[in-house]
Amino acid sequence: MSETEMSVSDSRLYDLEKRNEVAFNGGGEARVNKHKEGGRLTARERLDVLLDPGSFVEIDRFAQHRCDNFGLGDTKIPGDGVITGYGSVNGKQIFVYSQDFTVFGGSMSAAQGRKICKIMDMAVKSGAPIVGLNDSGGARIHEGVEALAGYADIFLRNTTASGVVPQISAIMGPCAGGAVYSPSLTDFIFMVKDTSYMFVTGPDVIKSVTHEEVTKEALGGAVTHSQKSGVSHFACEDDKHCLLMIRELLSFLPSNNLDDPPILDTTDRPDRIDESLNTLIPDNSKKPYDMLELIKIIVDEGYFLEVHQSYAQNVIVGFSRFNGRPVGIVANQPQVLAGVLNIEASKKAARFVRFCDAFNIPVVTLVDVPGFLPGTDQEWNGIITHGAKLLYAYAEATVPKVTLITRKAYGGAYDVMSSKHLRGDINLAYPSAEIAVMGAEGAVNIIFRNDLKNASDPDAKRSELVKNYEEKFNNPYVAAELGYIDEVIEPALTRKRIIDSLELLKNKRDTNPPKKHGNIPL
Ligand code: HXC
Repeated sequence: MSETEMSVSDSRLYDLEKRNEVAFNGGGEARVNKHKEGGRLTARERLDVLLDPGSFVEIDRFAQHRCDNFGLGDTKIPGDGVITGYGSVNGKQIFVYSQDFTVFGGSMSAAQGRKICKIMDMAVKSGAPIVGLNDSGGARIHEGVEALAGYADIFLRNTTASGVVPQISAIMGPCAGGAVYSPSLTDFIFMVKDTSYMFVTGPDVIKSVTHEEVTKEALGGAVTHSQKSGVSHFACEDDKHCLLMIRELLSFLPSNNLDDPPILDTTDRPDRIDESLNTLIPDNSKKPYDMLELIKIIVDEGYFLEVHQSYAQNVIVGFSRFNGRPVGIVANQPQVLAGVLNIEASKKAARFVRFCDAFNIPVVTLVDVPGFLPGTDQEWNGIITHGAKLLYAYAEATVPKVTLITRKAYGGAYDVMSSKHLRGDINLAYPSAEIAVMGAEGAVNIIFRNDLKNASDPDAKRSELVKNYEEKFNNPYVAAELGYIDEVIEPALTRKRIIDSLELLKNKRDTNPPKKHGNIPL
């Protein structure tokens, strides 16, 4: 049928189809082919992988810019470089935007800003997570301050939505200048190795200002940000891996701060006992062991989604399930720096605890910590302030808090790691737990300095005093006598006891005094 033979309604549908086609073509075949050369998916293909099949509903497909500067008025592409809308992941609704690098380099325009803000507002009103897929050359250079306004409008919404709905950012191409601040205001950042980068100022500016020479990848690639700076929580192999990981993360999260995290069916028995735990902790307390091994033994089906896997590895954080119920796990890792708390570890764990608390996810803390890392580097860089972040995060958290001390819990770090004193709900310990102000040798050297100086055989005297100190404090029973530890358990029973505790606490309600907001040591 030719256009002239069509009925009015047919021709309207034809017109719609044509308009849709233009929008679906993005920046045109040549740009799309160039974009895909590096193995990257298009903005629409990314949505296909992220969302449940057929669930995407696009909003503002025909939005366009209104800028005539520098000849831009001659080129208008429906959608203006970002695809926005909603769909579902694992059956639950989310809102999403996906920047299209083939359209004006995915750059931020006033129209793009309005589109993103619209779905952010809808997400907050309907209590659904927001996922942003970022791939953009930054502020639309032709638009000037209108583009900057677009970013700022998004930053404001990122901030007001924080703690209300989960916000997740994927960096799937360039993300430079002030554009980095929207992702960094969100809860989790995923980056794709080799094809994405984030920096406030790029290699050229750095060279002219500081004379440093650095590549984009080394400056702000996925590996850099997941290992060195901690800006990125996940470094993914390619676009598909990244999008599937986001689906995985969402499976642990509630839709909003008034919702509970989704419970999944499991075939892993809640009363499963594992005798291997009875010998996992070495008798020699200076010997390391792998806390990840312990985690994988106790959680449902051994599945642990580790967050910040390559950053500050002396503390482990991530999500698992116990009897189907999502939890956040925070654990010292004796295998890295003896599990000590330093600046990076404190910040990493604090942010994670706060996220869990904001979204009603119980926190299970596994403690084997020799204390805070000593040294001028740590002191001069503010371990006092950064360590306090973790203290603050645990103290203010009102979600169920279950703590297990497997071995060392020394000094201030004992207090910090979800102790009874910070409203730990159930505090367990293994018989191998050592709860003391410090290790026995350090303690003896300080409190018996004079006795050692005057002793005829100082080494023998030291051994005797160390033994006495160990007998008094290198055990969980002093803390248990005081009620700071609720139960000393056989390690084989760990899974069962943690599940019992979470079951007991599932309706826990606790509050903090009303206030505008607290003042966490930033
Ligand atoms: C308008 C842009 C653009 C931008 C890219 N394009 N960035 N258009 N505004 N910011 C367009 C290009 O003109 C080109 O159009 C197409 O997108 C693809 O860009 P290429 O340069 O061909 O791609 P590539 O070689 O892959 O290089 C990508 C890039 C480069 C490294 C991102 O495009 C670039 O340097 N862009 C400018 C980056 C920048 O300085 N942005 C401003 C940052 S400051 P055609 O029609 O040829 O396909 C900022 C402040 C935000 O963002 C502050 C918020 C508070």
